[in-house]
Parts: sequence; structure tokens; C-alpha cells
Amino acid sequence: MNVLVVGGAGYIGSHCVRQLAAAGHRPVVLDNLVYGHRAAVAPGVAFHEAHLGDGGSVVRILREEKIELVMHFAAFCYVGESVTDPLKYYFNNVVATLNLLRAMSEAGVRKFVFSSTCATYGVPERLPILESAPQAPINPYGQTKLDVENALRALAVAHGLSFAAFRYFNAAGASEDGKIGEDHDPETHLIPLAFSAAAGRLPHLQLFGTDYPTPDGTCLRDYVHVDDLSRAHIAVFPRLEAKGSGHFYNLGTGRPSSNREVIQAVERATGRTVPVIESPRRPGDPPALYADSAKAQSELGWRPKFTSLDSIVATAWAWHRSHPDGYGDR
Ligand SMILES: NC(=O)c1ccc[n+]([C@@H]2O[C@H](COP(=O)([O-])OP(=O)(O)OC[C@H]3O[C@@H](n4cnc5c(N)ncnc54)[C@H](O)[C@@H]3O)[C@@H](O)[C@H]2O)c1
Repeated sequence: MNVLVVGGAGYIGSHCVRQLAAAGHRPVVLDNLVYGHRAAVAPGVAFHEAHLGDGGSVVRILREEKIELVMHFAAFCYVGESVTDPLKYYFNNVVATLNLLRAMSEAGVRKFVFSSTCATYGVPERLPILESAPQAPINPYGQTKLDVENALRALAVAHGLSFAAFRYFNAAGASEDGKIGEDHDPETHLIPLAFSAAAGRLPHLQLFGTDYPTPDGTCLRDYVHVDDLSRAHIAVFPRLEAKGSGHFYNLGTGRPSSNREVIQAVERATGRTVPVIESPRRPGDPPALYADSAKAQSELGWRPKFTSLDSIVATAWAWHRSHPDGYGDR
């Protein structure tokens, strides 16, 4: 299939572009490079530098590239910033996405795969989290993703849109060949920050909250390898054949890892100590978030290949060691 990957120069999107090509599809990337990296996309892949909310450009690209399915990774994803600057988040994550969906409708493209998030669940009542759990986001970032999920439901009924919304837990790791990986600026994710602290590029790692009701007092999260996430996006294609169908899937390994366990895994991978400063809890950090991904496993035949934290951290470290400045373009 000809697949438009919106946000394909970003962390998860760029991994998906490679997986699409490996599976015999033709990825076409649309990204305005606000956070993405041109070097994350191989030179042979069609690349359009554009804003996803620019309907005229998007319709033209959809038509010219004969796009059959759109994967949408582009969003602003900093939870704290979404609290201080919600308009920035509503305009990019919701308004621009609605423009993209309108452009798809105009161009007659009716298959859509959306990057949603476990942040739509807020503070879960039960663990592991099922897709049927109540969705009550506790920050504007999570709310913008839930708003798009709801728009998709309505469009499936009204316009026959067929969609899958994947609620990712914590994406981590890098491509196995070490060619692409995670390079966010600013970086807020624990694993790359721990590498930077281990390598002396940061004076220390700030560990937020050591008094949570968890076995070692630190938060529990579910780390899932970025290539495993990408594979699910392709495994869902047959489900999108039926017109007007909507599917929601959690993507996680189901294995909770505490922040301290992540730090220890980074120390094992790097052979270095991670200097840590213990700090109070951050507002809005739920104590534990981990997935029940049985639905993706049974309906899509999806099985994470990377099942241990060490195996995920090893791929991430291989990328960070060989690319200490990431893509070096900022
Ligand atoms: N990284 C995670 O752990 C995680 C967890 C849950 C959900 N998600 C979701 O997955 C998606 C991808 O996350 P990521 O970590 O790869 O983020 P990222 O910032 O690395 O990638 C997003 C890409 O979208 C592009 N972009 C943003 N706004 C755009 C616009 N208006 N027009 C065109 N391009 C635009 C950016 O330039 C960037 O290349 C996001 O939607 C995010 O909310 C990520």
C-alpha cells in the first residue's frame, strides 16, 4: 500500500517508515520538522515538508502520491507544556488533525491509523489497564488525544472512515541496526536522560517520587520497543478493509518496570553509574501504568519481540553510544 506517514521524521514514525518499507509497502513522509529529523528518513523515501493542518497541501500530496492509508504520529507530546500552553496542544493535536481528516475525506482516503496514548486513561482504577477502562485524562495532552479518538468514532459512522487508534505505553529503544533512534529536544524520557547522566552529559538524573505505593517507591511504567509498536501498525491493515470500522488497542508489554529498575538496567547496559538526585513527586504522575495488550495479541497476532527491559535498553544504548548528539541537527 501507499502509506502517508504524518510525523514520519519523528521518533516512532521514522521507525514505522522503515518497517513499512521492509514489509513491502511504500511509505511517503509528511513532516514539518518542528521536532523531527530529516536524517531519520532514508534518502530514497518520498518526503514532503509540510504542516499537517495545511489542507490544500495535504489533499495534493494524498492525490499525487496515490495514498491509500494515513498513519498519524505528528503531535506535540510534552505533558507539562500542555498544562501551561494548552492552545498550542489543542491547535496542533486536535485542530490540525481535524484538517488532516477533512483533507483525507476530500481526497477519498478512508483508512487511518492514529497514535493515541495511555495518558487518555488518567489515573487508572485497575491494573493492568484494559481498553475498556474509563478514559479520564488528567492533562490537556491526554485530553487532545481522547478528543481525536472521539472524532474518529463519529467519522467512522458518518463517513465510513476505518481506523485503528493505538494507545501506546512508554515507547523506548532504537532500530536493531543502530541507524535510527530517539532524539527529542528537549528530552523528557527516562531512558535517554539516564544515558546522558551515565555518560556525564548531565550532572545527574532527577528521580521524581520515591514514596509511591509501589514495591521500591518509584513509579511503574510499561516500556515497549519502538519496532514492536511499528509492527502492530502494519498488522492492523486487514482490519481496516471493512468500511466504517474502528479499533482501539493498548500497546505495551504488560510488564511493569519501576524507575529504579530502569536506572539499574541503564547501569548494566552502560557499565557506568547513573548519578541520581531524589526529588519530590511530580504533579500528575500516576503511580503505575501498565497495559493489558491481550486484545492486540489475539486480534492482530501481535507479540512484542522485545520482552525484557534489558533487551530494549540495549538497543537504545547502541544508538546513544554511536550518536551521542542524536542526529546532530539542532
Ligand atoms: N514517545 C512515547 O513514548 C509516546 C507514548 C504515547 C504516545 N505517543 C504518541 O506517538 C506519537 C509520536 O511520538 P514521538 O515520540 O515519535 O514524537 P516526535 O516528536 O518524535 O515525533 C512527532 C513528529 O511529528 C512532527 N510534527 C509535529 N507537529 C507537526 C505538524 N503540525 N505538521 C507536520 N509534522 C508535525 C514533528 O516534527 C515530529 O517529527 C505522538 O503522537 C505521541 O503523542 C508517544
